[in-house]
Amino acid sequence: MEPTIHRGLAGVYFDTSHICHIDGERGELIYRGYDISELTDASYEEVVHLLWRGELPTRDELSAFRQELAPLFALPDGVIEALRNLPKDTDPMHALRSAVSLLAAYDEDPDGVDDTNVRRIGASLLVRFPALVATFERLRRDLPPVTPDPELTIAGNFLYMLSGEAPSEAATRVMDVALVLHAEHGSNASTFVARSTASSLTDTYSAITAAVGSLKGPLHGGANAAVMKALEAIGSVEAVEQYVLDTLADPKGRVMGFGHRVYRVLDPRAAILRGVSERLAEESGDSTWFEMSLEMERVMDREMEKKGRQIKANVDFFSASVYRMLGFPSDQYTPIFAVARISGWMAHLYEQYADNSLTRPRIHYLGETGKRFVPIDERG
Ligand code: SDX
Repeated sequence: MEPTIHRGLAGVYFDTSHICHIDGERGELIYRGYDISELTDASYEEVVHLLWRGELPTRDELSAFRQELAPLFALPDGVIEALRNLPKDTDPMHALRSAVSLLAAYDEDPDGVDDTNVRRIGASLLVRFPALVATFERLRRDLPPVTPDPELTIAGNFLYMLSGEAPSEAATRVMDVALVLHAEHGSNASTFVARSTASSLTDTYSAITAAVGSLKGPLHGGANAAVMKALEAIGSVEAVEQYVLDTLADPKGRVMGFGHRVYRVLDPRAAILRGVSERLAEESGDSTWFEMSLEMERVMDREMEKKGRQIKANVDFFSASVYRMLGFPSDQYTPIFAVARISGWMAHLYEQYADNSLTRPRIHYLGETGKRFVPIDERG
């Protein structure tokens, strides 16, 4: 009997989890019982505590969590040197993926997959991701790496280590919201890769290195940079409509930042980021990117309505204009996504290692069988 094939594992539930629920029909995203709209006033550390330990922290628990994290920002000298020696035009996602892998060589116990050791590595990666992204950004600009300030939060230190200047409250708040919204999203491609890699009981660094590689792809976390590339190529609000129509005219065309494997309505994170983008546009006095994004969303909604399709903006769409207005180069947009998603990946690794089952699906063979070997001398 022919097996049923589920390409891309679309609609397939491969395990259970207590971390995140997505209702694609209603456009709902829930982290450990809280609707995402409830968490936008929380700091990234509060949400990580929720994702990792199951509850939002009390003030004392948050303070203890931050004290545990503060000394972990420091990067091994060998990793900094490796980043320094990379070609300046290295894609920051190649740099991040390579550096994460290298961290294993400097870890006292990189391979232990017991809960205590995996959580120790997780806490270290949580703060080393922003440190790695910021350090490579400084080095590729021939600027000295910035030593983190233990008084600052993860969002604040990330901005501080990038610029060398104490970040404003407003910028830190926006970064906190962006990190919270991008922290976790169920079994998306990179989280599935992290869990399936860990399922062989290989080490945490190998699983997270694989996840960074998956996130880089333009169909996944790489879409935010692709959105900005498209907006830059379009150049003006007036040219947006034709760009969308030309893209949709190509059956293989994809308007980046739109569509989702699970959401059939607007991604709730996109709705929140649209508001952040609008506020930044007002505050900056330059609404170019926001207006172009609104126009692209208007034309896509109109064209999809005509086709009877539910292809709406996703989390990557408005984050592009937000990061642009925060001053980030577009090749740092996906690394920012990784700085957030390390928390979701680790939450899932805690679950995977605690109750593991090797991920090993089947693939249906369509080739021949029964062929006989002919020695090379007789094969002509
Ligand atoms: C993220 O999974 C997650 O949770 C991911 C994420 C997370 O937080 O981890 O939410 C983050 O990765 C968001 C997605 C970012 N990617 C993009 O914005 C890239 C552009 N989007 C598409 O490539 C696409 O929508 C996907 C990959 C996101 C989802 O695609 P599916 O479910 O595999 O569907 P598909 O590509 O097979 O498209 C189905 C139909 C096609 O038409 P037909 O061939 O059936 O006629 O919808 C059309 C597609 O042409 N379509 C689009 C489109 N997305 C789907 N048409 C134009 N533009 C698009 N963006």
